Amino acid sequence: MPYVLGIDIGTSGTKTVLFDENGGPVSSATHEYPLYTPKNGYAEQSPEDWWNASAGGVRDVIDESGVDASEIKGIGLSGQMHGLVMLDGDDKVLRKSIIWCDQRTAAEADEITKRAGRDKLIEVTANPAITGFTAAKILWVRNNEPEIYEKCRHILLPKDYIRFMLTGEYATEVSDASGMQLLDVPKRDWSGEILKLLEIDGALLPKVYESPEITGKITKSAAELTGLAEGTPVVGGAGDNAAAAVGTGVVEDGKAFTTIGSSGVVFAHMSNIAIDKGGRVHTFCCAVPGAWHVMGVTQSAGLSLKWFRDNFCWGEMETALQMGVDPYYLTDKAVEAVPIGSNRLIYLPYLNGERTPHLDPNARGVFFGLSSMHKKRDMLRAIMEGVAFSMRDCAEVIREMGISVSDMMACGGGGTSPIWRQMLADLYSCPVKTTLNKEGPALGAALLAAVGTGIYKSVPEACKAVVKPERVQEPIAENTGKYEKAYSLYKSLYPAVKDGYRALAELNL
Ligand code: XUL
Repeated sequence: MPYVLGIDIGTSGTKTVLFDENGGPVSSATHEYPLYTPKNGYAEQSPEDWWNASAGGVRDVIDESGVDASEIKGIGLSGQMHGLVMLDGDDKVLRKSIIWCDQRTAAEADEITKRAGRDKLIEVTANPAITGFTAAKILWVRNNEPEIYEKCRHILLPKDYIRFMLTGEYATEVSDASGMQLLDVPKRDWSGEILKLLEIDGALLPKVYESPEITGKITKSAAELTGLAEGTPVVGGAGDNAAAAVGTGVVEDGKAFTTIGSSGVVFAHMSNIAIDKGGRVHTFCCAVPGAWHVMGVTQSAGLSLKWFRDNFCWGEMETALQMGVDPYYLTDKAVEAVPIGSNRLIYLPYLNGERTPHLDPNARGVFFGLSSMHKKRDMLRAIMEGVAFSMRDCAEVIREMGISVSDMMACGGGGTSPIWRQMLADLYSCPVKTTLNKEGPALGAALLAAVGTGIYKSVPEACKAVVKPERVQEPIAENTGKYEKAYSLYKSLYPAVKDGYRALAELNL
């Protein structure tokens, strides 16, 4: 029987899953690693940690499944987008990777806008200059660590570093490359024009493929380290959101998903490219050759709840441990007891700046309306509602762009919470579904491998065969009416504090 392997290099860990040809998970392993925050606003990870987690995960799933490595027909990679990996002429990692949520590059984002012009950036890279994207990180190293920049010979994204370690190839694919701000997104190849304006040597960049294309084969040394068979093909794969789209079957017009992971994303498939002139949502190439997607991003979605849990819910975490349940099961139970509107408490989820719709690296979190009557459970509900309001903001921009969505999936850790899904259904006024397959990006990456190695003819065909819908949550009209009132108040808050955010960032005590 043919098997396919999906490796998802996430922010908290790498998840490796072996699937049979029907998309059934056979064995799975997750290896975690640290996130380094050397300064306020900085976020870095070690590419060596990613490699150890990937190689270890592959060894684990092969051992646990008992599958003969020669039966693994292909490998797909997915992972956190935007992170910068720099290699020297001997292929040694030059510094820790500056990852997607790092916010140190405000000056470089301004430099990119000055050099290329906002309109040109939106026309070619389909996005305005954004602190999280790779180009700003490259310029930051050039401006602040010129001795490292000088030694740099290869620039790779997180999952593409793992590809390099597995195959020896410097390669990427269109969906992840879209988040570098160096790709001509409509033309699906590097933009010579943008590279020239930013004075970045195109020779530093990897070759760009479509997501299901074979990009290289497992080398002898990678085979020895991982237990894979030498010569096993590795396909392009996709950035985590584009891979999650494949894993949830969002591969045709009208289909969309909301993911609540560390970040939150509303993602809609498009067979024709559309770009928001205001740059409030990203337009990227998607994993279906010749198609694109639009996506709105909330920087701190699940991260908001995790931040609150880790700092204020030690008791609940202890109880959850004793009961043998997930701590979020207990927070969900607490939130159920609180009415819609969290007893007049509104949370703005901008802990680490915000992308959609404000594009403001200085924005920070707010609890609006705190009163001495409020309890921890009101704050928990306000966080979940605030994140759901922010996802609605993303959906609104997508709607304004004329992209119609008739089918909304929910995925990611937060997507497993029925109460969070109900908030989304009520706020979108549309049914929200989940799939039976829970492996998201790892499944998407493995399906791309199944397409690239000929098990399926196309990405939509693979999704039709494998991805099965599970639960549907219908909107409740009475709830929708209440949420609309709270959402309209939520929307009025950012403009009211916007100037204060800048003043806070500049506060030098
Ligand atoms: C997308 C983004 C995040 C990361 C981490 O633009 O920054 O979704 O890919 O998951």
